[in-house]
Amino acid sequence: MTSPPLRSSTTLFSFQPRRRGSSRLDLNRGGFSLCASSVLNEEKRNLELGGHVGFDSLPDQLVSKSVAQGFCFNILCVGETGIGKSTLMNTLFNTTFENEEGSHYESEVHLRPQTYDLQESNVNLKLTIVHTVGFGDQINKEESYKPILEYIDAQFEKFLEEELKIKRSLYNYHDTRIHICLYFIAPTGHSLKSLDLVTMKKLDSKVNIIPVIAKADTVSKSELDKLKIKIMSELVSNGVQIYQFPTEDEAVAEINSSMNTHLPFAVVGSVEDVKVGNKMVKARLYPWGSVQVENENHCDFVKLREMLLRVNMEDLREQTHARHYELYRRCKLEEMGFKDTDPDSQSFSLQETYEAKRKEFLVELQRKEEEMRQMFVNKVKETEAELKEKEKELHERFEQLKRMHQDEKKNLEEKRRELEEEMNAFNRRKVAAETLMGQALQGCSQQPFKKDKDKKK
Ligand code: GTP
Ligand code: MG
Repeated sequence: MTSPPLRSSTTLFSFQPRRRGSSRLDLNRGGFSLCASSVLNEEKRNLELGGHVGFDSLPDQLVSKSVAQGFCFNILCVGETGIGKSTLMNTLFNTTFENEEGSHYESEVHLRPQTYDLQESNVNLKLTIVHTVGFGDQINKEESYKPILEYIDAQFEKFLEEELKIKRSLYNYHDTRIHICLYFIAPTGHSLKSLDLVTMKKLDSKVNIIPVIAKADTVSKSELDKLKIKIMSELVSNGVQIYQFPTEDEAVAEINSSMNTHLPFAVVGSVEDVKVGNKMVKARLYPWGSVQVENENHCDFVKLREMLLRVNMEDLREQTHARHYELYRRCKLEEMGFKDTDPDSQSFSLQETYEAKRKEFLVELQRKEEEMRQMFVNKVKETEAELKEKEKELHERFEQLKRMHQDEKKNLEEKRRELEEEMNAFNRRKVAAETLMGQALQGCSQQPFKKDKDKKK
């Protein structure tokens, strides 16, 4: 009897390579008890552990590995010039990042990323803060979202390139993908501007968006409540998907679902330390009093910090990878011709896809080459015809000139002959005249001599 083929096993934990023909893998030695499944069928069996094994330390191992490796977190601040982006970042991380004041005269929007190494307890964080520069300052704001979109895509592309490399180093790769986009809404006005809606709509499938109402201390409480409701209803009616704090995990479900109702957070930023009672707090001082940044009755700054850094930082990182990057990757690979299944639902091998794409590329290359060659030949022919035409024209011109020259020469020849004839005639007349004159003179000189002779007679 032949042994059944070895099927893929669902063994959860195995120290030994599976042997062909072995129907069971049960180990229970020296305190080690393994949960194994049968090789023959896919059914999982639960086994009781006889004692402590040690794999319960796996989470701790992961934690220490992650701590040693450090973390990356990347924040994108989108908002008009001077809306309070830098101040909020400084307040959020309780430090002073480099702040370069933006100008209101930028001809187009661009992004300025800055990376910092931060440490809290023994946790290292590579933080990248990306600010928009010149956002909302142009007369025509139609294209304002584009540089932001391009920046986000460029970071996805960099990661995808690293993933597809033969020698890749994802372990120590500096991940620059944007984990959160804080969208700063101006506190003035009755609702969102069309620029806000268009930008958020364009970005919502690319990044986790948390909208914040900036400089919330400049609006009264009742106005702020109205503004929040209006903003949320506009986002919903325009189908803008903002980041929702996750409620699947029981540990944070309550706080997250309650925080979801507070969106958009109305925030105040300040780096000024003010003495309130006997405590120094971050606040903004006004002639009539102070706005305390960390006072939940004054603004939502604490809520934002809690949600962003303490409770949901890992979810934001995960969502970026599992949702936004995955979407980008899928679209990009599909664009490149990769797919998981062919039309007959057969799984598609990478090699086949590569070969098919290579063939397609070569055919396209050949077609382009032929097209270019044909274009070149046509161009040469055209130039040749033009040159021939020019040569013909020149030849005709030459012939014409030659004829003109010959006519001219003939005329001159004729004139010369006439002149010579005239000269000859003149000379003949001159000679005749001279002869006549000579004779006349001779006649005159003999006449007096004769008269004298006659007188003497
Ligand atoms: P650019 O980088 O130039 O685009 O500006 P920004 O968005 O980084 O604004 P920044 O933080 O430099 O703040 C601009 C001005 O707004 C400064 O005078 C801040 O003191 C003030 N400001 C910042 N946050 C707040 C706030 O919450 N409330 C009020 N009232 N003023 C604020
Ligand atoms: Mg700034």
